[in-house]
Order: sequence, then C-alpha cells, then structure tokens
Amino acid sequence: MEKIALVVGSSGMAGNNLSQELVAQGWKTYGLSRSAKNNVNGVIHVRSDLLDINTLNQALWDVNPTHVFFTTWMRRNSEQENIEVNATMVRNLLNVLSGKRSVKHVGLVTGLKHYLGPFEAYVTEGTLPETPLREEQPRLSYPNFYYAQEDEIYSAAERDGFTWSVHRPHTVIGNAVGNLMNMGTTLAVYASICKEENIPFIFPGSEAQWKGLSDVTDAGILAKQIIWAAETPTAFNKAFNVVNGDVFRWSWLWKQIAAWFSIDYIGYENEIKPLTKILDGKEEAWRKMADKYGLAEENLNKVSSAWHTDLDLGRPIEVMTDMNNSRKLGFKEYCNTRESFFTLFEQLKSDKIIP
Ligand SMILES: NC(=O)c1ccc[n+]([C@@H]2O[C@H](COP(=O)([O-])OP(=O)(O)OC[C@H]3O[C@@H](n4cnc5c(N)ncnc54)[C@H](OP(=O)(O)O)[C@@H]3O)[C@@H](O)[C@H]2O)c1
Repeated sequence: MEKIALVVGSSGMAGNNLSQELVAQGWKTYGLSRSAKNNVNGVIHVRSDLLDINTLNQALWDVNPTHVFFTTWMRRNSEQENIEVNATMVRNLLNVLSGKRSVKHVGLVTGLKHYLGPFEAYVTEGTLPETPLREEQPRLSYPNFYYAQEDEIYSAAERDGFTWSVHRPHTVIGNAVGNLMNMGTTLAVYASICKEENIPFIFPGSEAQWKGLSDVTDAGILAKQIIWAAETPTAFNKAFNVVNGDVFRWSWLWKQIAAWFSIDYIGYENEIKPLTKILDGKEEAWRKMADKYGLAEENLNKVSSAWHTDLDLGRPIEVMTDMNNSRKLGFKEYCNTRESFFTLFEQLKSDKIIP
C-alpha cells in the first residue's frame, strides 16, 4: 500500500517536525495550513482554512491520503469558544475526506491539558491530578477542547471505518517560528536579551516547578510516536502519552541553559516572577538586536510566547508523564532533554532567530 500522509497544521511546531520525519521515512507527504509556510523539502503544500469548508473541499479535491495527522489548534478567549472552533476544524476536514474512502488511520495530537484541564482552569478549578499522569485517568468534569476533538474523531472513525491514535505530549520543544506556544524558543530569546543587557536570567515559575520533577516532549520524538502508532496494529485506537523519557528539575535545567548562553541566573525566590512582565517593554530592545545581529524576525511577539511559558512553569504541582503504555507495545525511542534544548538553540542560531 502506498503511504500518503496529510499533515494538518504542517507549518506549526508538531506538524513541521512530523512532515520532516515522514519525508525522511519515504512517505508521500501533503502539508495543510493557511500560510503554507512549511519549508521541508518534499512536502506538497495545500493552502486552506479548515474553518472554510468550501475552499477546503477545493483544496483537497485531488488529495487522497491514507493517513491523516491532525496537529492543529486555534486559541480563543474561552474554553467554550475553543471547543467550537477546534471541533469544527476536525469535523470539516473529516467530512471533506469522508467521501474519498482513502483514509485508513487518523492520528490526533492533543496534550497534557487532557489531565490538567484547560488553561483557564489551571489556577481556578478542581483538584490537582495525581502525577505521573497516566492515560487511563478519567476525563475531567469541566469543558476541554481536546475532548471535543477526540469525540469528532471517534464518531468519524465509526462512520468511515478508519483506525485512530491520540498523542498527548507535555511542553513541546522544537523548531517553529510565529506559532502560539513555544517554550524552547521563548527561553532562547529571553536568554539572548539577558546576555545583551547583562541582566540575570530569572526563573519565572512556581516553587513546585523549580523544585519538582518535570519532563518535556521533543518535537522529534512526538513525530516518531505518531508514525509508529500509525503503523503498529496493536497501537490502533489508543491514546498515548509522549515525553522524552528522562526527568529533570528546573532548578538543574535553568543553570544548564544559563551556562549555554554564558549568563548569570536567579532561581525561584519567594514568589512567581512572570515572564510576561519581564518581557513587557522589551519589544524595542529586540528590534534593535534584530538590526544589530541581522536576525530573521524583529517582532518579539512572533518569537516568544511568554504567556504560555508562564502557565507551564507556574503550575502549582510537579508534572511528569507515564510512558509505560506505548513502551509496552514497542515504542522504545527516547531523547535527552538537555540535548533537546541545546540542539534547538544551535538551530535557532544558524537560522538567525537568535544572535
Ligand atoms: N506547543 C506546545 O508546547 C504543545 C504542548 C502540548 C500540546 N500541544 C498541542 O499540540 C497541538 C499542536 O500544537 P503546535 O504547538 O504544534 O501548534 P502550532 O505550532 O501553533 O501550529 C498550528 C498549526 O495549525 C495551522 N492552523 C491554525 N489554524 C488553522 C486553520 N484555521 N486552518 C488551517 N490551518 C490552521 C497553523 O498554520 P497557519 O497559521 O499557517 O494556518 C499551524 O500550522 C495542539 O493541540 C496543542 O495544544 C502543544
């Protein structure tokens, strides 16, 4: 069987890395997004807005994927609106593809908010979940757009007879510019500003995150698990956590990052010091750095997502993730977290995103 992938959200962090891995593994790979900014050689671009079913129909008229990988999301002001927009995107795509009967498997990327609740609930609602987070933990009682995306896939799978897999990464570390959530690049940009201004690199998170155990998900390992699940019958119709496979404490990693940039650092001291506040007013400083060092993006807000770093590092508990289920079925990849960050920093330097 010819393997034809449609990566939905191919210009984003998960989608860009996944399309790179698919092409490297010999798949015919289509990449869909509104901007078609994915620069992976070999990807066939499909420019379309998932919210506009008419143009989506036209854009996909001669695309007959065997595998669909859904790595897209949009952010709205409330979880109710997130549910509407994100469920609509999944539904529109699967409705358009339904008539073709080409799709054998659909992989969906969601995340640990499946267990932790939506951003607005991090601080205000519910009891804190038990960690390490495990796939069998029940859904939370309040609204969550990940559940709505899953439900769209489950009902389309029943209608059209394809298999599915769901992938739940922790914070994703990987290369992408201009995307909504990108902790690795945000920290690299913040550290570069600290170096330029000779100021300390301040940990912006909570005491629990500074002292507790944590893990992250390299975008490369996420890509490998998605492809593994699409080709492993025992993994069909299951949801999997996906993280690097090692654990660390931010009190250790923060020092490592500071040393990589040759800057001083300040760890957690008595209170949370949000990065959104630290970076507020640094837009002009970044523009000047872009000019001085010939950087590719002079808009600080396109290379940093401080709001997201604050939410992740501000959690009131340590968060790490159980990987037993996919390991037991044969997914044996792992990744060294320090190398995830340092490889990304090297890439950002060579792409002129940081000096
Ligand atoms: N980033 C993280 O740290 C992280 C952590 C855990 C879980 N996750 C989850 O992983 C999934 C993927 O996240 P990500 O960070 O990879 O996303 P991302 O980098 O923001 O990428 C989103 C992709 O979707 C495309 N897109 C957005 N709206 C679209 C629309 N209306 N029509 C067509 N394409 C559209 C974007 O391209 P255009 O703008 O060009 O259309 C982009 O290619 C999400 O469910 C997210 O919640 C992410």
